[in-house]
Amino acid sequence: MKTKQIVLASRPKGLPTLENFRMEETDLDTMQDDQITIEGLFYSVDPYMRGRMNDAKSYVSPFKIDKPIEGGGVAKVTASKSANFKTGDLVTGRLYWQQESIANAKGFHKIDTNLAPASYYLGILGMTGLTAYFGLIDIGKPREGETVVISGAAGAVGMVVGQIAKIYGCRVIGIAGSEDKVKMLKEEYDFDEVINYKTTKNIKDAIAQYCPKGVDIYFDNVGGEISDAVIANINFHARIVLCGQISLYNSTELPIGPRLQPMLLTRSVLMQGFIISNYESRFSEGMKQLGAWVKEGKLKSTETIVHGFDKLPTALLGLFKGANTGKMIVEV
Ligand SMILES: NC(=O)c1ccc[n+]([C@@H]2O[C@H](COP(=O)([O-])OP(=O)(O)OC[C@H]3O[C@@H](n4cnc5c(N)ncnc54)[C@H](OP(=O)(O)O)[C@@H]3O)[C@@H](O)[C@H]2O)c1
Repeated sequence: MKTKQIVLASRPKGLPTLENFRMEETDLDTMQDDQITIEGLFYSVDPYMRGRMNDAKSYVSPFKIDKPIEGGGVAKVTASKSANFKTGDLVTGRLYWQQESIANAKGFHKIDTNLAPASYYLGILGMTGLTAYFGLIDIGKPREGETVVISGAAGAVGMVVGQIAKIYGCRVIGIAGSEDKVKMLKEEYDFDEVINYKTTKNIKDAIAQYCPKGVDIYFDNVGGEISDAVIANINFHARIVLCGQISLYNSTELPIGPRLQPMLLTRSVLMQGFIISNYESRFSEGMKQLGAWVKEGKLKSTETIVHGFDKLPTALLGLFKGANTGKMIVEV
């Protein structure tokens, strides 16, 4: 049987383009014991996938040229040789950018669509929700009355960080790239202040104005000059959660910035990077808490859904232009 797939056609230099991808037909193998046949319904596109397009050693292996791209997804089981799944089950796990696949059953989990829509398992109840939860709770350690600044605030991770910080009684300041995003975070997500980094001339001064008591937690999704401006306002004993550095993902050379170490040293600041897989053994704890907050109406989700399997590359590239508000997802 034949199906369609999207492969990495070439490795990008700088910002990727549609030419770096190619759609083609492929044959499906025969299903073996403990395997399932799945049809992709929702595919997650995520900034870290840009790193996998490079041929560079990292915490996750590079995509291979002429092989399908792979990422998180929600799929329907269309045939099963596994005792754990039956035809019709909705599952989440790692999917190739392929309309149908044969996959090992052990990499997949059933999802509960009574709790939340299927697409939430790629966002607020999936990788990005868990990233927000563990990054903020475990590294940020928020306390009531503290000031939390979030870059990339209107994205999948940032939006959840802001809501959890509010649950903990913090003052929340977001940084995002459009007036619509600023308005939504203030009006729908109760952020105390939001800075549009594209129109604000001096971000350092704007942070100082909105954080009169300084910044206790900086949840960094973007890095670069935005982070320089936030860190200039950092408090004694602050925590900097290094979650992402999207402003640098397409750089061909690492830019040189200010030397931050003296500031971190004299203010006894903790700056810690993490990747979400560090917390794998605690995922069920995170899912339980996120699920409870969703059920209680304390956590909401915004998604940007792009329609059509062939739009996967466009959706991925859109992340680097701010085309998404909340979680970027492709629905087939
Ligand atoms: N550590 C981990 O395990 C982990 C897990 C998940 C995600 N992450 C990281 O967390 C960050 C957010 O991920 P996400 O899934 O929530 O993505 P996202 O925020 O939903 O999407 C990316 C957003 O980044 C902003 N952006 C793009 N280029 C930018 C630039 N040059 N400068 C400033 N902002 C820029 C855009 O919003 P604007 O319109 O505001 O520019 C865009 O919408 C990423 O850096 C990602 O790699 C890390």
